[in-house]
Amino acid sequence: MMNVLILGSGGREHAFAYKIKESRLCKNLFVAPGNSGTAEIAVNLDIQVDQFVQIESAIIKHEISLVVVGPEAPLVEGFHDYITQNNKLDNISVIGPKKVAAQLEGSKDFAKEFLNRHNIPTAAHETFTVDNISSGYDYIDNTNPPYVLKADGLAAGKGVLIIDNPEEAKKSLYEMLVNSQFGSASSSVVVEEFLDGIELSCFVLTDGETYKLLPSAKDYKRIGESDTGLNTGGMGAISPPPFLSDSLMKKIENEIINPTIQGLKKDKIEYQGFIFFGLIKVGDEPYVIEYNVRMGDPETEAVIPRIKSDFLELLHSVNSGSLSDYNLIIDDNPATTVFLVSGGYPELYEKNKQIFGLETVTNSMVFHAGAIKKDEKIFTSGGRVLAITSLANTIQQALEKSYESIKKINFEGMNFRKDIGFDL
Ligand code: AMP
Ligand code: GLY
Repeated sequence: MMNVLILGSGGREHAFAYKIKESRLCKNLFVAPGNSGTAEIAVNLDIQVDQFVQIESAIIKHEISLVVVGPEAPLVEGFHDYITQNNKLDNISVIGPKKVAAQLEGSKDFAKEFLNRHNIPTAAHETFTVDNISSGYDYIDNTNPPYVLKADGLAAGKGVLIIDNPEEAKKSLYEMLVNSQFGSASSSVVVEEFLDGIELSCFVLTDGETYKLLPSAKDYKRIGESDTGLNTGGMGAISPPPFLSDSLMKKIENEIINPTIQGLKKDKIEYQGFIFFGLIKVGDEPYVIEYNVRMGDPETEAVIPRIKSDFLELLHSVNSGSLSDYNLIIDDNPATTVFLVSGGYPELYEKNKQIFGLETVTNSMVFHAGAIKKDEKIFTSGGRVLAITSLANTIQQALEKSYESIKKINFEGMNFRKDIGFDL
């Protein structure tokens, strides 16, 4: 039995908490800072994910032996390194890589260099800074549109621009490099070839030697129906993507996942945690769009409910050297997640709206994201509020269940996409 701490406050972290709570190995479960959903099943700690000193004290006080890091920012800032520097804590399992490996997400240039070094398929690219901006203009002139411009560093999911016109692409390159459009994140910019295809997300848990393949998913990023309008943190997800055939999965493992794990070993980069492969299928060929060093959100809310075996035992095996022996059992039934969001999101929206009807939902799982508990009532506290996940024999039936459950929930301004899965 062990005490576990989850860092983060979204639907992803509520899904982790729900699964870890079921484990026969879980003694006490803490979430920092958590939300109204995690408050029901764990102890929320009033600590933010960037407060390393306070997290360290909480780990000691609550005798935590395993920490699951939800979001990327603390990993890129070196949370894992910080915790294991404390001699008293060197036995703790941190699920999430150290700073060096977290650059796979923290620096697009680092990721592209890694992909090229290990011959992993990805879009052709070059990286530019203010010092060679004119080469950037030449690169744009010599590439076919559309142009994909990516701020090198973390930019809260906003640092990628896709532009049709070469003059506008050059203007944007100037804005990013010279006028720091994305702050220091865009002091270096990756310009890459546009890949036309369908996106999917694959996930593994690795100890740096071996890995377990977790369920894959497809997420829906745009706010509007038929994938239109602004990008969001994610409006829904489906696991598995029905177009992911066995032969495509084999290709992904042979050409992308295995070479990534082997590449980390060759480069002598330790890795403990999740790797999220953001992929695009062009024709029958998979390419890496990006690496993330954590699980996806909302994908996790569709992926986790399909894991039948003991999830904490799986996480624990990463540090105990037994990952390769672990028998991971996945539910064959698909899962669908539909996100309920605040009216106006992803632009300006109001918070603090009371949420009604949650207790009447029985056929779906409800993962809380931007929601908090005050005086036994639940209120919205963010743009993406609740993730409604259902499992069924088919994607269609699972979606019907989620949409039936949604009818029972309401808060002022509530919005959601009615067409999750429309393209499948
Ligand atoms: P990233 O932050 O690298 O995942 O990029 C954000 C989104 O931009 C991706 O999910 C894709 O939809 C799109 N994107 C990124 N790179 C490319 C590319 N080379 N070709 C086409 N679309 C891309
Ligand atoms: N769903 C995409 C992400 O978590 O970055």
